[in-house]
Amino acid sequence: MRTLDDLVAEGVRGRTVLVRSDLNVPLDGEKITDDGRIRASVPTIQTLRDAGARVVVMAHLGRPKPDQDNAKFSLAPVAARLGELVGTTVSLAEHGDGVAVAGLADGDVLLLENIRFDPRETSKDAGERDAFATELAALAGENGAFVSDGFGVVHREQASVYDIAQKLPAYAGGLVLSEVEVLRTLTGSPERPYAVVLGGSKVSDKLAVIEALLPTVDTLLVGGGMCFTFLAAQGLGVGSSLLEQDQVDTCRKLLESGKIVLPADVVVADAFAADANTKTVPVQEIEDGWLGLDIGPVAVSEFAEKIGAAKTIFWNGPMGVFEMAPFASGTRGVAQAIADGDAFSVVGGGDSAAAVRALGIAEDGFSHISTGGGASLEFLEGATLPGVAVLEGDA
Ligand code: 3PG
Repeated sequence: MRTLDDLVAEGVRGRTVLVRSDLNVPLDGEKITDDGRIRASVPTIQTLRDAGARVVVMAHLGRPKPDQDNAKFSLAPVAARLGELVGTTVSLAEHGDGVAVAGLADGDVLLLENIRFDPRETSKDAGERDAFATELAALAGENGAFVSDGFGVVHREQASVYDIAQKLPAYAGGLVLSEVEVLRTLTGSPERPYAVVLGGSKVSDKLAVIEALLPTVDTLLVGGGMCFTFLAAQGLGVGSSLLEQDQVDTCRKLLESGKIVLPADVVVADAFAADANTKTVPVQEIEDGWLGLDIGPVAVSEFAEKIGAAKTIFWNGPMGVFEMAPFASGTRGVAQAIADGDAFSVVGGGDSAAAVRALGIAEDGFSHISTGGGASLEFLEGATLPGVAVLEGDA
């Protein structure tokens, strides 16, 4: 796989380099609530600028739908933040704006507007994607190049991730390289004990990764909304908690591994609201009308003990509804236990990475905070990631 270093060694001064970054950040109106992915994209962009490239960044935001008012999916706030971090003005241009691209000087950075505003980006029809990728590649001109740096999106077979890598000389960016290297440590021979902590709402989203991880891990700690389907599989009543009835049998089989640890207690509420009435109960005592929204303190200390004994940890998914203060303790406790330990620890993107930052836990307590949520899970599942395979020439 050719890398950013190879590209810089070839020489990029005066060349237009298209960079696919993952700048899909959470927004509250126009306010970016967690800029982690933008910060993670800066080193590759800065390396290219310093080497004199004219950098055109492609990125998506959310999942805009055709024929709707998609104004809220504009990358305008992201362009402003990227400019602050890179230390230059980053203008925002439409996809077909060859004039804006031609106007770039060496070291300039331009961000193309949400690449998903063109439905061909995510089309299942390879011909449509190919046509879009051809148009994008044309922006780079004769001597152009493509750098794939959006790790969070390499599991998507999309025009700006996959097809374009077959239209231009393609290189792996620093972020993609470092993410892949870290995750390969987990799928290779992790130091033992190897503990995985999984949370998040739906067990159905995590089944593939649980099945792939169980033969490898020593302990799988399960919290978040998904733990209630496992608790139901043990024959417990879960009140009004999130329950995927159709997954109960599957969870029962997974429990036979003997490696899955469920919370001993949970924080329950009489409504899904920050001001609901709450209480902490053993998992055997969840009453009808109450729903579990966090793991309890006994669970936190049991999970922390397993975490403290582990030499390798992968964590994906919050333990509760951490965005609401009464249900944040479980996620905070688990995150803090990981940060306090000296295991090789990887936080798998998305909500868990946002939780670390939102809860004010020092990021340097973790060996690696991935920018990829779905991408890191699919990597651990052993799935082929199209955006990586295409760089390796395996697509
Ligand atoms: C993510 O948020 O995991 C990535 O940006 C990919 O987004 P997607 O799930 O909408 O493809």
